[in-house]
Amino acid sequence: MQNVAVIGYGVVGSGTVELFMKNRESISKKLGKDCDIKYILDLRDFPHSPFADRIIHDFDTILNDDEIEVVAEVVGGTTFAYDYTKRLLEKGKSVVTSNKALVAAKGAELLKIAQEHNCSYLFEASVGGGIPIIRPLCKCLAGNEIIKISGILNGTTNFILSKMIKDQLTFSDALKMAQTLGYAEADPTADIEGEDACRKICILGSLAYGKHIYPEYVHCSGITHITLDDIEYASNAGYVVKLIGSVAKLEDGRVSAIVCPRLVAKNNMLANVEDVYNAITVTGDGVGDVLFYGQGAGKLPTASAVVGDIIDCLRHKERPVAIGWEDCDNEKFVVNYKETSTAAYVRIKADDAENMKSALSEMFGKLMYIERSGRPENELAFITPVMKEADLASNLTILSHSAEIACKIRIYG
Ligand code: HSE
Repeated sequence: MQNVAVIGYGVVGSGTVELFMKNRESISKKLGKDCDIKYILDLRDFPHSPFADRIIHDFDTILNDDEIEVVAEVVGGTTFAYDYTKRLLEKGKSVVTSNKALVAAKGAELLKIAQEHNCSYLFEASVGGGIPIIRPLCKCLAGNEIIKISGILNGTTNFILSKMIKDQLTFSDALKMAQTLGYAEADPTADIEGEDACRKICILGSLAYGKHIYPEYVHCSGITHITLDDIEYASNAGYVVKLIGSVAKLEDGRVSAIVCPRLVAKNNMLANVEDVYNAITVTGDGVGDVLFYGQGAGKLPTASAVVGDIIDCLRHKERPVAIGWEDCDNEKFVVNYKETSTAAYVRIKADDAENMKSALSEMFGKLMYIERSGRPENELAFITPVMKEADLASNLTILSHSAEIACKIRIYG
């Protein structure tokens, strides 16, 4: 018998138990040995759960049980989860997780501990929910130099933006709907401010380039400032708004990484990725563009990735799954986004907006103005040429003395 424990019986934890137990027989066949979930650790009791008899409250029960070979850490956060993961790996027990916050913050350290103790630390569920992306990136695409990874990495914000675009729901109504459906994190700040997508692009970049990219070094902005007016302007110019995370290797060996809302052309494949779906484009020097698409959030899609990792660990007990990256000085490795270039959509408000056009051209160069039905006279929306981020920022600072900068969204591509 091969025994597993699950830490955390929330959305992903209960999904993991449900999927594992539903498919236990076929999983056992694949492993050639019976397998079971022996413990579920949670602070709460679940008297009505069919697995109530497996609920425990003491972490040491798992740590000290030699029968437990693999533990799914799906409790989230970076405090208890970090302490538990470290102690389990130090005991030689493999850990699998959906905890992107922990992998993005402590991945290099935890992977090293796993390697030193001949066990695995796997995190397929930490990026893209149910989409297989970590393993293909490390294995199937290992023959490539990865030029760029970019895509929609957060299901909640994609759901919110889809509802704003398709159903004209306001941001706050769409957020409420995402929370009701269980997509948003307990505290939705991490989703809507882009932090969740930032952790995910850091994990993908760390894997692709072999060095830990820390979220603190990645410029990150969310979608809370986007209104239905911006959605309409974008649409009239041939775009939809998407939250995009990107990481790319520069010629000098450094990487650039950024998470922000972008205007994506309607004929780009990413424009048609809707609701809670994620899509990630990986560009390799041999393979070209590869698109990974699927449900990026939700109980069972995420559980699918967690259970896949559990099976992989049980299969490779004697020879742990070797994936990872080294720690590194991000001051030197991650380029400041202000050194990179972009075009941007800008919406301003000013009493004499119409008279500002020549001053705006002098400042930014040739602008493409966009219309919307009922555009107030004190509002202008335009798209700038591609320019250095530093120049864009300083132009907007100067402009803010004579106009309100109501919205800025970078253009994708
Ligand atoms: N809150 C996350 C999302 C869950 O919406 O993508 C999956 O990581």
